[in-house]
Amino acid sequence: MKKFSVVIAGGGSTFTPGIVMMMLDHLDRFPLRKLKLYDNDGDRQSVLGEALEILLKEQAPEVEFSYTTDPKEGFEDIDFCMAHIRVGKYEMREQDEKVPLKHGVIGQETCGPGGIAYGMRSITGMLEIIDYMEQYSPDAWMLNYSNPASIVAEACRILRPDSKVLNICDMPVGTLRRMSQIIEKTPAELEVRYFGLNHFGWWTSVKDREGNEYIDQIRAYVAENGYLTQVEVDTQHTDPSWQETHKKAKDLLAVNPRYLPNTYLKYYLYPDYEFEKATPDFTRANEVMAGREKKVFSAARAIIEKGTAVDSGFEIDAHASFIVDLARAIAFNTHERMLMIVENNGAIANFPDDAMVEVPCLVGTDGPEPLAQGKIPEFEQALMYQQLTVEKLVVQAYIEKSYQKLWQALTLSKTVPSAKVAKDLLDDLIEVNKDYWPELS
Ligand code: NAD
Ligand code: G6P
Ligand code: MN
Repeated sequence: MKKFSVVIAGGGSTFTPGIVMMMLDHLDRFPLRKLKLYDNDGDRQSVLGEALEILLKEQAPEVEFSYTTDPKEGFEDIDFCMAHIRVGKYEMREQDEKVPLKHGVIGQETCGPGGIAYGMRSITGMLEIIDYMEQYSPDAWMLNYSNPASIVAEACRILRPDSKVLNICDMPVGTLRRMSQIIEKTPAELEVRYFGLNHFGWWTSVKDREGNEYIDQIRAYVAENGYLTQVEVDTQHTDPSWQETHKKAKDLLAVNPRYLPNTYLKYYLYPDYEFEKATPDFTRANEVMAGREKKVFSAARAIIEKGTAVDSGFEIDAHASFIVDLARAIAFNTHERMLMIVENNGAIANFPDDAMVEVPCLVGTDGPEPLAQGKIPEFEQALMYQQLTVEKLVVQAYIEKSYQKLWQALTLSKTVPSAKVAKDLLDDLIEVNKDYWPELS
């Protein structure tokens, strides 16, 4: 089998060790000849880099491993770039979550004003790594899960239309695992129909390969318990705040019992509830810093100190194996069916062609082929159209450096109550993001 060279962009991410371990676990399906980490924060990345160097020497010495902050070293001779960068890191995620709360609006990293602020930062970083990839490895593909994926995808559509960037999210993957547990199946046994925008969509069908439909059974369960399952299935999304989120799907289903909701809809349908239960001094960014970040970086330091990764605290991120499935789909033309963020072009019949939507696709050597999802009902369509326009306005604001358009984007967001609040928020967001955003006028 062909062996691949992969660079992980955002090598210093808390997800890097889990994803590297996952890839080592899948070497028989996706063999590696080279694995590189690339980050623009050398100090942060080197902790994980040094630890993973030790781990790879012990567990996969045949894979050539390196880590770098030099774009040429990072991006030359690669087949895939797996991208999970966070422009501004947790310091700025904290701002994304906390600034809106000061204005009575939900504080979330990818939804509402937080997502808009993060989007305005991410576009620059994403364009930078796409350009490095195209300069040094023009045939490579980027598998991107850097957030906010909707805004990033729309920016790529307009600014890098010919680039080989595939945008994917793990929330539907994680929720399908929960659904499969509810009906005592495995995700691999199931095929879904789904439509929406990223972090904003619905399942319309969950069938097994024989064609038996399980959506009613799952719906009955979710109406009682949300997506909270008896036995923990996920390797991610398990912190207490995530358990709350899975449970809240019950209330999402109540307002729209037709389809099974993506958990992120709670920020749009119950923003008052989310705001009331928010803890402005300790948001999700703080929970992650005190939890996942601390755990991963302490484990890395321990490996370096001991000089061995035997009995290390690094854990395989089994949940992330969809990334290998996606790479394999491209490399081996597997036509795996996956939910991807793609240009609509009729996949949702009554939705704009130029919308970046999340729908099932067959993925092969030429990329994703979206599967037609037909017409969607007006409730979902109206919600999606509003959110789509927010995302489009953000990208236009970025390109045109337009204060007006970003104000409109914030005003239109379902999470923001008025143009006045939107303006106050915008002025604060500009101030805290001044090192990252283009200057608006
Ligand atoms: P993190 O802050 O731990 O890691 C991000 C890394 O990116 C940092 O080391 C940072 O230095 C680096 N970085 C920032 N700008 C860069 C640039 N221009 N070039 C190279 N590196 C850069 O964050 P995390 O919590 O581990 O998350 C990483 C990313 O993955 C985030 O964007 C997050 O939203 C995303 N994510 C997405 C999904 C999904 O479903 N799509 C799932 C999980 C995480
Ligand atoms: C889900 C979403 C991702 C998001 C992540 C946040 O997986 O699909 O897009 O980045 O949650 O998780 P965290 O643990 O960092 O709050
Ligand atoms: Mn996501």
